[in-house]
Amino acid sequence: MTRAGGALLALLAAGAPLHAASAPAVRGAGGAVAAAEASATRAGVALLRAGGNAVDAAVATALALAVSHPEAGNLGGGGFAVVRFGDEIVTLDFRETAPAAAHAGTYLDADGDPIAEASTLGALAAGVPGTPSGLYALHQRFGSRPWAEVVDPAYHLAAGGFPVSRRLHDALVEEQEVLARFPTTAAVWLPGGAPPPIGSIVRLPELAATLARYAGLGPAGITSGPVASAVERTVAAGGGILTAADMAAYEPVWRPAVRFSAFGWELASMDLPSSGGIILGQTLGVLERLGWKDRPRFGADRAHLLAETWRRAFADRYLLGDPATTGARAADLLAAAWLDERAGEIDRAHASSSEAVAPWPGEADEADDTTHVSVVDGAGNVVAMTTTLNGSFGCGLLVPEAGFLLNNQMDDFATAPGRPNLYGLVQGAANAVGAGKRMLSSMTPTIAWNGSDVVAVGGRGGSRIPTATAQVLLNLIVDGDPLQSAVDRPRLHHQWRPDRLEADPDALGPETAAELERRGHALYFWPLPVKVHAVRRLADGTTEAAADPRGPGVGDVATPDVAAPGAPGGSK
Ligand code: GLY
Repeated sequence: MTRAGGALLALLAAGAPLHAASAPAVRGAGGAVAAAEASATRAGVALLRAGGNAVDAAVATALALAVSHPEAGNLGGGGFAVVRFGDEIVTLDFRETAPAAAHAGTYLDADGDPIAEASTLGALAAGVPGTPSGLYALHQRFGSRPWAEVVDPAYHLAAGGFPVSRRLHDALVEEQEVLARFPTTAAVWLPGGAPPPIGSIVRLPELAATLARYAGLGPAGITSGPVASAVERTVAAGGGILTAADMAAYEPVWRPAVRFSAFGWELASMDLPSSGGIILGQTLGVLERLGWKDRPRFGADRAHLLAETWRRAFADRYLLGDPATTGARAADLLAAAWLDERAGEIDRAHASSSEAVAPWPGEADEADDTTHVSVVDGAGNVVAMTTTLNGSFGCGLLVPEAGFLLNNQMDDFATAPGRPNLYGLVQGAANAVGAGKRMLSSMTPTIAWNGSDVVAVGGRGGSRIPTATAQVLLNLIVDGDPLQSAVDRPRLHHQWRPDRLEADPDALGPETAAELERRGHALYFWPLPVKVHAVRRLADGTTEAAADPRGPGVGDVATPDVAAPGAPGGSK
């Protein structure tokens, strides 16, 4: 601070955060892809260059992530996709489900207390994978290139090998102790007892064989036959309940998107069983009512309004669960009267206590790790798709004959309603474990458009996904930031419980932080574990890709503009 110049001191006094200057987004034409790994982004761009559309490219990218981003990209997990194809807007829910043998007591001991690690580590934590059927269903409905061609880049990555990125190496180091507990996982991802060095080539022959079956047979190549039998055997040996019959019975679900407008833009996001679209819609709707656009960009007012809005949106989340078994709906929680009421509750000078903020009072009962892909093609078709194993490397257990890891998505249920899960989220009975149910998610794949200017955005990071997605959108559609700056900016987060306002270390200047504390916010500074990837097609047809440097992710375009900084490689 003492070395800062006068201009910088003035900015800090105004509450401006300190953050590194952004590199520009990668720009060009013919479509754009943003994802967590260079090899995956390349797979998507290759499909675009071969004449594929946004869905072909998104599926190829997701499959490549299942190879080179094993902590989240997956065949053994699930996800959500929001698609705008021509005039059609639809979402695909390929969220995992609870195995048929699951019940409300699966993760509780005889005293009703949660059994340590039962829903987070090992075979019992695995839900029924949705990805194999989901990606195929997306391609069947919208894809234009042959299925085998869409699977091909992932197959070649697995069979031919790929260099270990710094990101993957660091992720393996971080989870080394846990992965070492599972011999089948360690044999692949900790060869010789340690993560493979950066730049070394990893080949995954078993995963390649699974992808070859998938290319030839579609989902049946995974959800039945030898791969499904291998999953059942591995899970049973580990004390789990997921069976081949569960896998064969899995169905993805096409659902209407959650639609709303805010600040002059139209938005389409994911509905239940993800809470993401509802939280995003509530956030933008309440902030618009509170005059967000006219509050100073930096300083305590906007941070205060964000915290108070999210406190309420996450309180409402307490009521949410699988729409097949719970009554609360997006229409209830995004109704103008409810947004008015929530906006009216907010005191601009004082923080509320989360204890005093109750969820929506209607009748609700009975009626990090994840990865995101954003793709736009040259015709303006858009896909925002988030896939996940839940925790990093899912439940840690790799099915040796199949070559893929299983998820630990069962922890996204309220395994013990009222107690915090992996993300500290406190959830209600609506999201209790039940056979065949879909566990509540926070994933927020979203498409936003204003005329022919269209953006696809979303992220990874559990409960912090909707708040990060909201901030990137606010930066773009309210403050007019360039795409990459909108992604790069430091962020805040509040989720009702625990009652604290989380902030990236450089998100708040000292004066702003002091003012927020004066208003009653408990501040918690840490690098928020959430990453957002976005693409945009501007009205003039230019396409842009902006991956999150926190990942780091990689954005690229089909036809690079050689004059644009960052082209043609696209890596940041
Ligand atoms: N597993 C994180 C989420 O679905 O929100």
